[in-house]
Amino acid sequence: MKSLLYASASALAPGDEQAEVERIVSTARARNADLGVTGTLVFTRTRFAQILEGADGVVDALMARIARDPRHEQVTVVDAIPIDRRMFDDWTLSYSGGSRYVDKHIAPLLDGGGSGGGDARQLRRLMQALADAS
Ligand SMILES: Cc1cc2nc3c(=O)[nH]c(=O)nc-3n(C[C@H](O)[C@H](O)[C@H](O)COP(=O)(O)O)c2cc1C
Repeated sequence: MKSLLYASASALAPGDEQAEVERIVSTARARNADLGVTGTLVFTRTRFAQILEGADGVVDALMARIARDPRHEQVTVVDAIPIDRRMFDDWTLSYSGGSRYVDKHIAPLLDGGGSGGGDARQLRRLMQALADAS
């Protein structure tokens, strides 16, 4: 199994974001359960970060499909690590709303272009904490 973390910039129309994110989440919840994919999604109004965990090939195929989705852009795989146990029990939306604090952890991973401006481990810890709290 692997755990993949990606970040992206939202392309959702302002004003309609919340309803669209709910649509994304209900698709993802049903699909990911079928695929045996667990993980979590964070949405900050301007950016997304998502962790997907599951069998390597399943996660790769799902990631390829998500990357083609026009509802976001600059889709950037931050890291992908081999795991032998899951950190998430199911698939959850762990945060949805405006938050400069959360966004500050995502932005440098997207815009930093690998310059070391972002800390993937810190973002993973934050996403885990948000999922635990939700
Ligand atoms: C930020 C974001 C996260 C998404 N996460 C998932 C996901 O975890 N699982 C999933 O099946 N689809 C997810 N989707 C939706 C997929 O991109 C795609 O629309 C959906 O799987 C339906 O694919 P299809 O139209 O090829 O059948 C996500 C979309 C976005 C924009």
